This record gives sequence, structure tokens and C-alpha cells, in this order.
Amino acid sequence: MSEKPTVLISGASRGLGAEAAVATAQLGANLVLTARSREGLQNTARRIQDLELGNKVTIVDGDITQSAVCAEVAAKATANGKLDAVVLNAGSVEPIGTIETVDETAWLQAVQLNLAAPFLLAKHLLPALAQNSGRLITIGTGAATSPIPSWSAYCTSKAALLMLTRVIAAEKPEITAFSFAPGVVNTAMQQNIRDRKELMPAQLAEYFQALHANNQLEPPEVPGKALAWCSLYAPKEWTGQEVQYSEPALVEQVRKAFEAVAR
Ligand SMILES: NC(=O)c1ccc[n+]([C@@H]2O[C@H](COP(=O)([O-])OP(=O)(O)OC[C@H]3O[C@@H](n4cnc5c(N)ncnc54)[C@H](OP(=O)(O)O)[C@@H]3O)[C@@H](O)[C@H]2O)c1
Repeated sequence: MSEKPTVLISGASRGLGAEAAVATAQLGANLVLTARSREGLQNTARRIQDLELGNKVTIVDGDITQSAVCAEVAAKATANGKLDAVVLNAGSVEPIGTIETVDETAWLQAVQLNLAAPFLLAKHLLPALAQNSGRLITIGTGAATSPIPSWSAYCTSKAALLMLTRVIAAEKPEITAFSFAPGVVNTAMQQNIRDRKELMPAQLAEYFQALHANNQLEPPEVPGKALAWCSLYAPKEWTGQEVQYSEPALVEQVRKAFEAVAR
């Protein structure tokens, strides 16, 4: 039986989740990867197999806004009886639009994805994590604490997700549960934001266009590596906290860990 730790990552078909999955494999873990796109998950799994490090990869394709899918993901993640970390990364900034104009079905769907799915996955997985003194990481954003006009679904669901993470930390001292802030990352989510510029205040739209035009977006492998390190090594003291991907102490640990595996 494999002695490698097992890490579940949601939203692993592209973007931050895919880069975190590859980096977590580099650090020596087996992966359970979930998202809707089977093709995207297969691409991520292929990148991991190409490392030739012997990582076991399980993929579960499905829409985690459906509670039955959360149950299925949790069952597959605990199938070998040992789960060391869960990275609740899947999320969406959509729908963008003012409260008076935004589509209400899409708004509720965003809450289901950004908040209810992490709640359901945590509910299913906390017993397995507690058994291994494991880690549960949610993905944070400045939008959870700063109101952004036209982003009500994202701001409010991420604010509630942050509090959910803190409540999990308070309820479950056996595990390490914290929020990881990845910076502003060059993924499909940022492309979505740029594509919906007419739905946002002009100054906000210009800000995001300029970040892209001036090459100021973080490549996803940078926070992806930090997230991978966190899922395997984050210290107990971080429970209930918000951790920035760029904190110098974390950056140094990440540098050392990836230097060591590159040797
Ligand atoms: N990019 C940034 O600047 C930024 C900044 C702060 C925080 N974040 C957070 O970082 C996380 C990752 O975002 P990203 O930038 O990597 O965005 P992304 O490229 O759009 O990736 C989102 C991931 O979530 C999955 N997903 C979306 N809806 C889903 C559903 N209903 N069921 C299952 N999986 C679903 C997507 O896969 P499928 O489409 O295949 O389902 C994809 O793998 C999110 O929580 C986001 O809020 C991003």
C-alpha cells in the first residue's frame, strides 16, 4: 500500500487548482481531483503521471453544486481510508452585475458553489481529516473583506466561506483549517472579469485590464506551489487564520521544499 499522503483538490481541471495539484504531486502526494470537466481533470492527471513519481491520481468529474456529487467526491476521497488534506478551491466570480440587475438564479448558484459546496464537502470529510490530524484549506480573496460593486455574489459568499473556515477551525481542534489567499492570478477567472467589463464600474474594469496589460497577474504556478506546501506542511498555529501566498516565511519554505525535490 502507498505511504504517500492523499490530498483532495476541488477545481483541479484548470487554473490554480490544476497547478496546485501538479505541485502537490511533486511534493510526493497522491491526489483526488474533482471538477466538472473530465477532459480538464485528465489533462491535470496526465501532467502528474508525466512526472513519473508514482503518484496515484483519482479523478471524480461532477458539479459540486449538487449535494449528491459532494457525497460522491467525499466517498472517493476516503475510499482508501486515509485522507490528509482537502483544498476547497473550486469557485467562481460570476455572476457580475449590480444587485438590481444580476440574475437571481445565477446568484444563488454562486452561493451554492462558493459556500454550500465547501460546507457539504467539509461535513462529509471532517471525520476522516480529524483521524489524520489533517488540513482543510479554503481559498480566500480580498473581495471577502472589501465590498466590490457588482460582485455581490462573490464578495458575500467568500466572506461567509472565510467565517465557515474559522468555525471549522474552532469546532475541530484536531485539524488545521485556514483560508489561503492566492493573490490576483492569471487564470480563466481573470479573463471572465475582463470579458465582463461593461457590467462593472469603469474604474474597476480598468484596474483589472491594467493588471493584465502590465503583466501584473501572478502565474498560477506561484500560488499553486504555496498551496501545495500548505496542504502538506502548514503548521497547526495557522488554524483559523488567513494566509497570504506571498508571506515571506511561506515563500521561503516553498522555495526550500521545491529545491529539495528538484535535486
Ligand atoms: N484568479 C484570481 O485572481 C483569484 C483571486 C483570489 C481568489 N481566487 C480563487 O481561487 C480559486 C480558483 O480560481 P481560478 O482563478 O483558478 O479560477 P478558474 O480557472 O475559473 O478555475 C475554477 C475551477 O473551479 C471549477 N468549478 C467551477 N464551477 C464548478 C462546479 N460547479 N463544480 C465543480 N467544479 C467547478 C472549474 O472547473 P470546471 O469548469 O471543469 O468545473 C475550475 O477547475 C477560486 O476559489 C477563486 O475564487 C482566484
